[in-house]
Amino acid sequence: MKRRDAVARISATARFLPDHVLTNADLEKMVDTSDAWIRERTGIVERRIAPDGMTTTDMGAGAASRALAKAGLEPADVDLLIVTTATPDRWLPSTACEIQARIGASRNCPAFDLHAACTGFLYAVSMAEGYVAAGRGEVVLVVSAEKMSSIIDWQDRATCILFGDGAGAAVVQPSENGEGILSSFHRSDGDMADLLERPAGGASRPLDPESLRNRDHMIRMSGREVFKSAVRSMAGAGTAVLREAGVDSSDVDLMVPHQANMRIIESTARYSGIPMEKVFVNLQRYGNISSATIPVGLDEAAEEGLIEPGSLILMAAFGAGLTWGAMAMRW
Ligand code: UT7
Repeated sequence: MKRRDAVARISATARFLPDHVLTNADLEKMVDTSDAWIRERTGIVERRIAPDGMTTTDMGAGAASRALAKAGLEPADVDLLIVTTATPDRWLPSTACEIQARIGASRNCPAFDLHAACTGFLYAVSMAEGYVAAGRGEVVLVVSAEKMSSIIDWQDRATCILFGDGAGAAVVQPSENGEGILSSFHRSDGDMADLLERPAGGASRPLDPESLRNRDHMIRMSGREVFKSAVRSMAGAGTAVLREAGVDSSDVDLMVPHQANMRIIESTARYSGIPMEKVFVNLQRYGNISSATIPVGLDEAAEEGLIEPGSLILMAAFGAGLTWGAMAMRW
């Protein structure tokens, strides 16, 4: 299939990770778990945790400012700011508006939060691509920032071992040579909404003493069910974007998948026909940073020289909603 030229590309990425490291050994002292179980069942060795007082806005603004500097842009150049987060600092206003003010972006720049859980970054880059394609702006800043530690139930061993804090950012600009975002695929299935949720704290179940006592305002997950859907959906989405881009799995230089579980990553790579040598993994160091995993991964992969101009990159993610998606991109 002859593919169309790309209209937009990611011109720069950056990341911000808090310094504090929480190891599996630390978690052994908090819940009934073991380093061996966590490594074997998830692949995670340690994760970063933001200290008290460090907010989603702090981390997001840190990544955003670095990404703009790397793109050679000023905050005033940003035409649209999209923040993806499952952990906004406040329900009102959006974290995007807080980051807009913090980095000193113009008041002419619309800013909003997009919530697609762990798939948020790919959703947002697609929105950014559409904005650029429609000629509404030339610089879209996508910031994925998550303070997962603020919604983790630290008494629930099934979930507290999985997540970490951090932020990644990407600048989306018009393509200069027809290369950039080649294809994307996004889906959601609200019939599976209960598999991964925060049951209380929203409009349907406002916080009350009982929900607080039950810790129902924290993450609850049916891990095994999410696991099964994740492999199916990421592999399917990856195959779809490669087909649409008119390329084969053997053409992929690097796959940067959502980092939730090593076994999910390995199965997805196997189903997608991508050898593990071509799969970027930093899960062992950061755990699952929700929507920030892919921009942080892209940034580290570029820094490590694993991707260079012209590299074909396949990204795939899944998360609460359920939501899932993939994107093929020429770097
Ligand atoms: O971005 C999307 C976010 N969601 C995910 O990525 C979740 C995807 N799911 C997973 O990654 C896996 O399902 C988990 C890592 C969450 C769990 O692994 P699993 O192999 O599916 O384990 P399981 O839930 O079936 O539990 C197996 C056993 C259970 O004990 P019994 O009933 O067999 O005696 C659990 O109670 O492991 C036990 N277990 C633990 N043991 C030690 C659960 N969590 C732990 C733990 N330490 N932290």
